[in-house]
Amino acid sequence: MDALSQDYTPISSILKGGQAGKKVKVRGWVYRSRTSGGVCFVVVRDSTGVIQCAVKKDAVGEKSFREASEAYIESTILVEGFVREDKRAPGGFELAASQVQLVAQGEPFPIAKDQSVEFLLDSRHLWLRSQRLTTIMKGRHHILRYLRQFFEKEGFWELTPPIITQAGCEGGSTLFEFDYFGQKAYLTQSSQLYAEVFTTSLEKVYVLAPSFRAEPSRTVRHLCEYWHLEPEMAFYNQKMNMELQERMVEYVAQKMAAEQQDILAALGRDIGKLKAVRAPFKRITYDEAIEICRQAGANIRHGQDIGADEEEILTRSEEKPLFVTNFPKKIKAFYMREDPQKPGTVLNDDLLAPEGHGEIIGGSERIWELDELMQRLKENKLDVRNYQWYIDLRRYGPFPHSGFGLGIERLVKWLLGLDHIRDAIPFPRTINRVYP
Ligand code: 4AD
Ligand code: MG
Repeated sequence: MDALSQDYTPISSILKGGQAGKKVKVRGWVYRSRTSGGVCFVVVRDSTGVIQCAVKKDAVGEKSFREASEAYIESTILVEGFVREDKRAPGGFELAASQVQLVAQGEPFPIAKDQSVEFLLDSRHLWLRSQRLTTIMKGRHHILRYLRQFFEKEGFWELTPPIITQAGCEGGSTLFEFDYFGQKAYLTQSSQLYAEVFTTSLEKVYVLAPSFRAEPSRTVRHLCEYWHLEPEMAFYNQKMNMELQERMVEYVAQKMAAEQQDILAALGRDIGKLKAVRAPFKRITYDEAIEICRQAGANIRHGQDIGADEEEILTRSEEKPLFVTNFPKKIKAFYMREDPQKPGTVLNDDLLAPEGHGEIIGGSERIWELDELMQRLKENKLDVRNYQWYIDLRRYGPFPHSGFGLGIERLVKWLLGLDHIRDAIPFPRTINRVYP
């Protein structure tokens, strides 16, 4: 058999049924194996699934049998055999092997059962082959695909921003600073300010790019490098902005529930929870949120930011995501427009995912008038020299606009029902991990 030939059958297509009795070839890696007497059971995985292959010495001959029984976990293997329906086999089908060939035996795989979380993270490059992470990465792929599909339908342009910047977007404390040939520069915290530039030519745009936060906290929802989807829309107010967020979240949740049931089932995710995600979502103000939290016994004062504990209180009995609007101007970023109806608060929203997952989106209407922006930059003690280009947008053809940022890993964590954000990204970057 030739490993490079194209006539291998994807395992998932065998498991779909309809091929019983047929002779097929599969190509992949040994997921598990056990030999007893003259039979070796090799479970083979490829990118689509796993199938058990029964390798009988009598049927395959000396050489094939030796290669099958010498295979390690993760050895690369080719198997030719007849498809057989078998209720006892995982997936309901197995292959009765007629020929087996190792492409490479390799070395014994270092990951066995019951390994510590730290060991698995150190071995992430190998652990990404696990069924669970493979399934999550497939889920992530579909979530990103549906998001792009949604914005295509809505008539948005996708643009790519710089990652190296001198303009902090979300406050100095989480900036990764470095020396850029003698000048101070940062890894971007958000592409929003550049997305705002793109609206002046293309009106409705989105950016999908990494954002960086020097997060000193160890939590189940913070990464130092995460993927950030940032739409920005000309001639949108905050109400239109929130309605767009609602439509987007509903679209992705409904697509996942309708089209990716296998993935959700493999992860033990209750599909009903995603089916319930229908617009409109409930809206409460920051003031109301603080009141609810205090009544539930939380030790939070008006004027403090809403953290993970409070988000848990707010969302634990919600079926759908929840908007919290009108945060105090003082605790929010410099670019958010003050609400003329509720001075002292801004036209913003945090969208909190249910079941305690918490914030997945932060959005706002942007300040678009020059004087208001200059005032807020000053109040926030930001160096205007780094923002000249951003200020220019308020000089030349300014217009009302809004936008938001969605944390991809936060969305993946919620939709797939994961306990920890690190499993929503292939190589998590956290306060104590940049390897592998
Ligand atoms: O709320 P944030 O900080 O808002 C912004 O960056 C805006 N400039 C976005 C915009 O309006 N274009 O971040 C937006 C989202 C959060 O709601 C969260 O989902 C995610 O980014 N996020 C993180 N995800 C993982 N790890 C972190 N450390 C994150 N910080 C923010
Ligand atoms: Mg936020």
